[in-house]
Amino acid sequence: MISVFGSKYTQEDIDAVVQCLESNWTGIGKNVTAFEQQFRERLGSEHFMMVDSGSNALYLALKNLQLPKGGEVILPSFTWVSCAQAVLLNGLVPVFCDVDLYTQNVTAELIAEKISNKTAAIMVVHYAGLPVDMAPILALGYPVLEDAAHAVDSTVDGTYCGVFGDAGIWSFDSVKNIAVGEGGGIWFKEKERIDQSRMMRYCGIGFSGFQAASNNNDGNWWEYDIQQPNVKMLPSDIEGALAVVQLKHLPVNQQRRKAIWDYYQQAFANTAAVTIPVACKPNETHSYFTYFIQVPAARRNALAKHLYEKGIYSTLRYHPLHLNAIYQSTASLPNSEQLNATGLNIPLHQNLTDEQVELIAVTINDFL
Ligand SMILES: Cc1ncc(COP(=O)(O)O)c(C=O)c1O
Repeated sequence: MISVFGSKYTQEDIDAVVQCLESNWTGIGKNVTAFEQQFRERLGSEHFMMVDSGSNALYLALKNLQLPKGGEVILPSFTWVSCAQAVLLNGLVPVFCDVDLYTQNVTAELIAEKISNKTAAIMVVHYAGLPVDMAPILALGYPVLEDAAHAVDSTVDGTYCGVFGDAGIWSFDSVKNIAVGEGGGIWFKEKERIDQSRMMRYCGIGFSGFQAASNNNDGNWWEYDIQQPNVKMLPSDIEGALAVVQLKHLPVNQQRRKAIWDYYQQAFANTAAVTIPVACKPNETHSYFTYFIQVPAARRNALAKHLYEKGIYSTLRYHPLHLNAIYQSTASLPNSEQLNATGLNIPLHQNLTDEQVELIAVTINDFL
């Protein structure tokens, strides 16, 4: 079966994990520190930290933006579950907005329709790694959280997505462009907020161990300074070790992802039944996290099943959140609902061979 998402590990990844194991220390340590330092240099900001998942990064980001309880957070419905869960877990109210049919991204106009006197923040998602048009969204004047889970290699005028607003998050889970098993990253514009998050990722402990001892005249290094209730959100040093190597290999892997994405763009250019994704602008870079096509609704499910029978896995990212009963949404979001009926993500990752990519394109074109 050809998988729809995938990650690639080289001998260097394996060696890094083995080295970590041989050091007999797998908890947070020098590998996480090294990755954080490299990622900070890449972002051009010190205010970045690794955590154990993108989902927890979303939770921490909303928590430390310190929004008023009961405030509304406007977010796309066409995104991953964690985005809405993070809102609810912070005592805030998710307000789902639509996305553009062709970019699958939110726009300032679509967000503006949802603004009320309770609006506390806006969450945007750079879908597939195509940068959201941030300037008009920032101009709306609300705190903005950027979900760059798909967008680790996406830039606008040389600046990485994730640092345009007040907070940004990344995911390094097992299917992302940097894949470490489970892992995430968080950035804040303001230093105090990242410091607060660092305390929270370790059970809300401000000082610990020897740090505590050096601040304590009695030298009792076993005493902690617990500042806030929170669970543990620390990444392990195995994940840190993988993250360092995955970041190093990112340019090579991105070249492969782009080559496949370009191949599909050409292969489907003359297939009337396929709407291909929008390319990024000349001043932007794309992360090519996933390849999303739109096909006639009447044929989408049959196409997915046909591909499955041919050994090709496809999926839909995402089943719109506002259609899930738990969120009790009464919103009508025509574009998200249309994408739910017509959309299909087909395989895109650096493990695919040229023959597999060709087979996927030919199978889709022949079927349609
Ligand atoms: C858009 C988006 N945001 C957040 C997340 C959560 O990341 P994680 O899986 O690392 O918790 C994901 C994961 O797929 C995602 O796709």
